[in-house]
Amino acid sequence: MSHDENNAVLFGSGDEAPSNHSHNPHFNELVDARRRQILAGGAALGVLGFLGVGLPGESQAGERHLPPFGRRNRLPFTAVAVGRADGISVPAGYRATPFIPWGTPITGGYPAFLEDASNSAQDQAEQIGMHHDGMHFFPIDAQYGAGLNSRHGLLVLNHEYIDAPLLHPNGPTVVDGKRVSAEQVRKEINAHGVSVVEIRRDVRGEWQVQPSARNRRITAATPMQMSGPARGHALLRTRYSPEGTASRGTQNNCASGFTPWGTYVTCEENWAGYFASRDSDLPRELKRYGLRSSSRFGWDTLSGDEFERFDATRKGADARADYRNEPNHFGWIVEIDPFDPDSVPVKRSALGRFAHEGLVFAKPRAGKPVVCYSGDDAQNEYIYKYVSRGKYRPGRSDGRLLDDGVLYAARFNADGSGDWLALDLQDAAFQQACAAAGVSFADQGEVLINTRLAADIAGATKMDRPEWGAVHPDSNEVYFTLTNNSARTTADAANPRVKNAYGHIIRWREERRDNSGVRFAWDLFLLAGPESDSRGPNGQALGADNMLASPDGLWFDEDGRLWIQTDMSGSQLASGPFGNNQMLVADPHTGDMKRFLVGPLGAEITGITATPDFRTLFINVQHPGEGSTANNLLSTWPDGPGKRPRSATVIITREDRKRLL
Ligand code: FEO
Ligand code: CA
Ligand code: CA
Ligand code: CA
Repeated sequence: MSHDENNAVLFGSGDEAPSNHSHNPHFNELVDARRRQILAGGAALGVLGFLGVGLPGESQAGERHLPPFGRRNRLPFTAVAVGRADGISVPAGYRATPFIPWGTPITGGYPAFLEDASNSAQDQAEQIGMHHDGMHFFPIDAQYGAGLNSRHGLLVLNHEYIDAPLLHPNGPTVVDGKRVSAEQVRKEINAHGVSVVEIRRDVRGEWQVQPSARNRRITAATPMQMSGPARGHALLRTRYSPEGTASRGTQNNCASGFTPWGTYVTCEENWAGYFASRDSDLPRELKRYGLRSSSRFGWDTLSGDEFERFDATRKGADARADYRNEPNHFGWIVEIDPFDPDSVPVKRSALGRFAHEGLVFAKPRAGKPVVCYSGDDAQNEYIYKYVSRGKYRPGRSDGRLLDDGVLYAARFNADGSGDWLALDLQDAAFQQACAAAGVSFADQGEVLINTRLAADIAGATKMDRPEWGAVHPDSNEVYFTLTNNSARTTADAANPRVKNAYGHIIRWREERRDNSGVRFAWDLFLLAGPESDSRGPNGQALGADNMLASPDGLWFDEDGRLWIQTDMSGSQLASGPFGNNQMLVADPHTGDMKRFLVGPLGAEITGITATPDFRTLFINVQHPGEGSTANNLLSTWPDGPGKRPRSATVIITREDRKRLL
């Protein structure tokens, strides 16, 4: 095999392969044609009311979603045009400054980044990782919850995956389909994970990395603990943890979240491809997650315990003698206390196991359960919600609220109503569904390890790749991006386009505005696409100022404006009418929407967080020049001609240093 052929096997697309072969209905079997027409053609403000969804305690048809804000233009900038420049474009009056690119030293010996990528594996463990993704700014006074400091804080960000051809001086070494350099693979493992960076604005107003004991790299090898119902489960026993309680590392951390008590949560998305199993009879907890006989980067092909754990083939007498269960330690939400560099990250199993894109919390209310939402980003997978059993106590609650609760999957009914389906052995409807399906689970830990199967059984709605969610700061309405789904063969009300190339945004309002309930009303906020096949938040087709495809990142600022980031790839990115990946702002109150930023060549725009004073916005540029090799640079952002492209954060400020909007 040539290097290129080997690389096609080992380093191909990391997206989750479709693995949902359940018979859950596509809802056109249930919906009448007229209703579908309304949904596909009338994705406009107020459709929840328009549909006349008669939930008890809900508003009347036609009622505004949000309190009026007056006539002020809440998007006071000139839209950025689509473009294919190798740089960042923002509206006049704004500045965009690259910050902490891959390789920036942050801890240990602070090893300088070497432009030929010759830094060692150990250097990489002390430098910012590759492929920046989800991110949150914790004001330095936010240790126990909301902070106010806008000049000093901890920036915490994910490193989703790697471009191995750029990580090493001449790309990865592969011989006969196998990796041969432990040093190379260790560097790859260390380029994954999470960075915690203490940053501060200097006297000139520029953000600087602080040499701080709080700076930290968490990698795909950092020791972690399991918690919640699956902790200690027989299906988590491994050679490393015969008790099934400890894990090593987190990887493919896509979007992120932050808790009401001041911790960071990172989300394991396309982890399945990191493992291989050559067993012909895969158990359901591997099969339903798409495990294959070869892995994406070939880490499993090296010998030594640190690499053999990526080989889930049954080899020993029982699970404690091999790594058949190692993949069961992935697909979780991982909680990290960014303020304590010695804290052990915790995998919170009660939140379910799937390709977690992110985790977004509803606004916490004292004396009520905490509620959070997470999408499973693969074709025809589901949207989930978690409701804690314990009650939120400001200043006293902590991550233990994420260890005991009920996980639900969403069913979007054709009439605009929705149901949260409990995936809980104590729930009578779930018990009946399991019996009807002829499926049994020994305990709740096994349900959670098999979250996708549990949601299949419960009858959740197959979605067009759920990505980020965002909760409106006033109404508590929840918005979710559905990025695209080339595999959709049957339209339904919530996913109204077959072979959905452009994606859409769905939103819902929980019954009685109580996010812990089990019923909701939903509508479509946006159908992305070109002018000929789209519908904006105002009910009109999108145009030059706001057309987009493949919405992915999603975030509300405190004034209730929705920021949307795109992750187009392939021909859509190379030759579509949308130009490079971008970020837009929408005002759900007025229906206005404008493009705010266009990124460099080959990059996705992702990750978004702001200082409390909203004078600094941080976003991430991931994989500029995707597909580059050392001898063929498809982008040279941010360092300029001749330099390898590097993922980086971008700091956005106004030239007059006022609030961004
Ligand atoms: Fe990692 Fe779903 O994007
Ligand atoms: Ca994403
Ligand atoms: Ca994406
Ligand atoms: Ca990406």
